[in-house]
Amino acid sequence: MRGKFISLEGGEGSGKTTAIHFIREWLDFHDIPYVMTREPGGTPLAEEIRQLILTPRDEAVNDVTELLLVFASRAQHIAEKIKPALDKGFWVISDRFLDSSYVYQGKARGGDLAMLDQLADWVVSDSKPDATLLLDVPVELGQKRVVLRNHQDRLDKESLSFHQKVRDGFLDRAKADSQRVKIIDASLPLDAVKQQIEEQLRQLNKAWADEA
Ligand SMILES: Nc1ncnc2c1ncn2[C@@H]1O[C@H](COP(=O)(O)OP(=O)(O)O)[C@@H](O)[C@H]1O
Ligand SMILES: [Mg+2]
Repeated sequence: MRGKFISLEGGEGSGKTTAIHFIREWLDFHDIPYVMTREPGGTPLAEEIRQLILTPRDEAVNDVTELLLVFASRAQHIAEKIKPALDKGFWVISDRFLDSSYVYQGKARGGDLAMLDQLADWVVSDSKPDATLLLDVPVELGQKRVVLRNHQDRLDKESLSFHQKVRDGFLDRAKADSQRVKIIDASLPLDAVKQQIEEQLRQLNKAWADEA
């Protein structure tokens, strides 16, 4: 049976990477085979493209360049890692995926949404996530956590209004596709975040088992 594909989305400092650990524990406990991955990246070549995207540089990065680099890494990631894993029955958990492109390269940078739809159809096609957990936090709190984490990349350094557009963009995506996107209140303490995630996984697993 094909595995399930879950993406984690949210702004910087919302707790995606932290959530991955909770999900890993839950999947281990339930003996579900899985592959953890992230975007941009996930394969050696895709990780090299990630470095190109995220490294701070003097040269201005053209919006179309950034968009195409993200989709180039995604094509590689899907073909070499996501699809083979799902075909083998593994669940795939990705720290960021397609929603991030709509939000960062689309909404926050004012990119062409019709172009994004075309790229999504072409590159992602039927490899869209079965479910998405959106870690939602107020921008100021996310920023505080990023500073504590003590490592900032090119996108972390964007303005507060950029990050506000990112948060709003994710919430808009969730509203438009509430069946797939589950909102997690990630402003709460870690144990409360963990509980929400486990509850969502429990419900999803049950729904998928009932379908099968
Ligand atoms: N619910 C939370 N409460 C307190 N601190 C948190 C919470 N979630 C994450 N953090 C901390 O905030 C920082 C950023 O979290 P991280 O998971 O790296 O976010 P992301 O991967 O979404 O950028 C980390 O230092 C993490 O330990
Ligand atoms: Mg992270």
